[in-house]
Amino acid sequence: MSLDKGLEDVKRPETEATVQAFFSSVAKRYDVANSLISFGQHYGWKRKAVREVDAQPGDKCVDICTGTNDIAIMLAEKVGKDGHITAVDWNDDMQKVGDFKIAKFGLEDRITNVHGDAEALPLPDNEFDRATVAVASRHLNIDKHFEEMYRVLKPGGRAVVLDFFQPYNPVFRKLYFFYSYSVMPRIGAMITRDKTGVYDYLPDSIRVYYEPEKFADEMKKAGFKNVKYYPLTQGIVYIHSGDK
Ligand SMILES: C[S@@+](CC[C@H](N)C(=O)[O-])C[C@H]1O[C@@H](n2cnc3c(N)ncnc32)[C@H](O)[C@@H]1O
Repeated sequence: MSLDKGLEDVKRPETEATVQAFFSSVAKRYDVANSLISFGQHYGWKRKAVREVDAQPGDKCVDICTGTNDIAIMLAEKVGKDGHITAVDWNDDMQKVGDFKIAKFGLEDRITNVHGDAEALPLPDNEFDRATVAVASRHLNIDKHFEEMYRVLKPGGRAVVLDFFQPYNPVFRKLYFFYSYSVMPRIGAMITRDKTGVYDYLPDSIRVYYEPEKFADEMKKAGFKNVKYYPLTQGIVYIHSGDK
């Protein structure tokens, strides 16, 4: 596969069945694969996103598409024992790994994993001080997703989104896609023993994804104010934020 590959057949978002199959296939080894394919950088990106969230002791947060709960666990440290994190995902296999990590850190009182769809959150309006979503927006209908994120936030609440985009430097972009098409899927599939092709889907989906400024426009369309964004690691990922 290469940058010359046609992208006409790449669907984004994929169907629910495909997304569920992707994450059930990789769940048990998702964390270790993430660390290897990102050279350990994904934790740094997530920590920066959590800093942007600026959660305060006692805050109620929601982490949407929480997967194995990395962001939820980082947020739990910030909100302290009087705060609470509701962590939503529709994939039970990812959440099982998350439950294990929550127990390992003794955070059962502070984090609740909830089974649910990011496009129809099973949560009340105006409930949360902070809302996050990390590396999952590509699986979602963005307008529905932002509408839901906005709905569950309290007025004055903040949303933070971390996701992959195309690196802005053309030379770095070429190297990045060489790695993403030629090396990364092999490492990802080898570690997780994945047969669904989720690691081939990732670079394709990045190429058919929004430009960071258009993504910010989608946040504004949903009603978010003070929308800001900035790149990390040459634009491999961006952090977007906005207030309700
Ligand atoms: C790439 S993982 C990201 C997990 C985690 N946020 C992280 O940063 O490691 C994407 C997650 O989004 C979840 N997901 C995708 N579409 C969803 C939807 N419509 N509703 C709920 N969860 C969804 C998947 O099940 C998966 O756990």
